[in-house]
Amino acid sequence: MLPPTVADIEARAAELLEPGPLGYYVGGAGAERTLADNLDAWASHRLLPRVLVDVAGVSTTTTVLGTEVSMPVLVAPVALQRMAHPDGEPGMARAAAAAGTLMTLSTLASATPAEVAAAAPGAPRWYQLYVARDRGVSRSLVEQAVDAGFTAIVVTVDAPVPATRDRDLRTGFRVPDHVDMPAVTAALGRSAGVSVAEFFSLVDPAFTWAQLEDFIADCPLPVLVKGVHAAADAALAVEHGVSGVIVSNHGGRQLDGVPGTARLLPAVVEAVDGRVEVLVDGGIRRGNDVAVALALGARAVLMGRPMLWGLTVGGEAGARHVLDLVRAELTTTLALLGCTSPDDVTTAYLA
Ligand code: FNR
Ligand code: LAC
Repeated sequence: MLPPTVADIEARAAELLEPGPLGYYVGGAGAERTLADNLDAWASHRLLPRVLVDVAGVSTTTTVLGTEVSMPVLVAPVALQRMAHPDGEPGMARAAAAAGTLMTLSTLASATPAEVAAAAPGAPRWYQLYVARDRGVSRSLVEQAVDAGFTAIVVTVDAPVPATRDRDLRTGFRVPDHVDMPAVTAALGRSAGVSVAEFFSLVDPAFTWAQLEDFIADCPLPVLVKGVHAAADAALAVEHGVSGVIVSNHGGRQLDGVPGTARLLPAVVEAVDGRVEVLVDGGIRRGNDVAVALALGARAVLMGRPMLWGLTVGGEAGARHVLDLVRAELTTTLALLGCTSPDDVTTAYLA
C-alpha cells in the first residue's frame, strides 16, 4: 500500500534510498537556507475564502501555453530518475499522462526523449535544456525533442556552474554504474561514476541574453526560461522573446540565500504584466501551496522532489499517487475557497 500523504511518501523514500542518492535528491546548496525558505514562503501566506458560492462543480483543469492539463501542477525537470526506481523517466511520463498533466524531461535525465515519448505517446511533454558548451550537443538534444513530439523547450538559466552542495561532498555522491545519462555520455564520453560537478561541466557558463535570443530565433518550439528570480530579468526574458517565465531557485540547489519563490513571484508577475505565462516551482507540497501560487499570479506550478519520492516508493504508481493526492487537495481547497476553477483564484483570496 502506498503511504497516504506526500509527507509519508517522503519519509518512506528517505528509508529506501542509499545515502548518496538521498542526499543528492533532498539536499540543497550551502546552508540550505533557500531550501527551507521555499517551504516557509508558501506557508507564510494565509487564505481568505468566500462563502455561499455554488461549488458543486469544481474543476482543476487549466491550460499552460495553450495545452490543456488536468491541473495547474506539472512535473519539474529532475535529473537521474532511474536512480530512484527502474521505472525512471518513462515511468514518470506514464504517471503524468495518467494524471492528465505534463512532464518536463531533464537534459540530465537517465532516458532519452524518444524513450519518454514512447512511454506516453499521447501525453504533452516539454524538454528542459541545459545549453551545452558544445552547441552540437544542444542542437542534437533539441532535434531529438522535436522529433519525439515535445512541444516546448525549457532553458534553465540558474545553473551556469554547479553550487556547493554539502551533502554531496559528505557522501561523495557519484552517478551509479547502472544509470546512464545519454546527454552526458554524448558530451563527455561517459556518465557512470561521474560527480555532480563533472556532469554539470557540460553546461556553458558563458551563455548570455544575446545568445538566448539567437537560440529562440532558431528554435522551432516555444521557449520558456527557468530560474528567473529578479523582476528585471523577467522583463528582459519577455523582451528577448520567451513564451513563458518560470520563477525558480532550482529547489534551493543553486544560489543559497535567495528568497523562497513565493516571495519572488509577485514582482515577476507585475513585471511580466500578462505578456507571457508565469510559472513557479520550489517547495510546492500541497494543494494549498498551489492555490497560493495561483493567487499570486502563477499560471501553474511544477513539483520536483515530491515526484522523486513517489517514484522511489512506488515507481510509476507512486509518482501517479503524488499527483493524485495534490490534485485531490487542490480540488478541496478550491471548493473551500469558494472557487470553481484555477482561473477564479486571485489575490482577493489571500488574507
Ligand atoms: C532538480 N532540478 C532540475 N532543474 C533543471 O532545470 N534540470 C535538472 O536536471 C534538474 N535536476 C534536479 C534534480 C533534483 C534531484 C532536484 C531535487 C531538482 C530543479 C527542479 O526542476 C525544480 O526547480 C525543483 O525541484 C523545485 O523544487 P521542489 O519541488 O523540489 O521543492
Ligand atoms: C541538479 C541539476 C541536475 O539540480 O539540475 O542537480
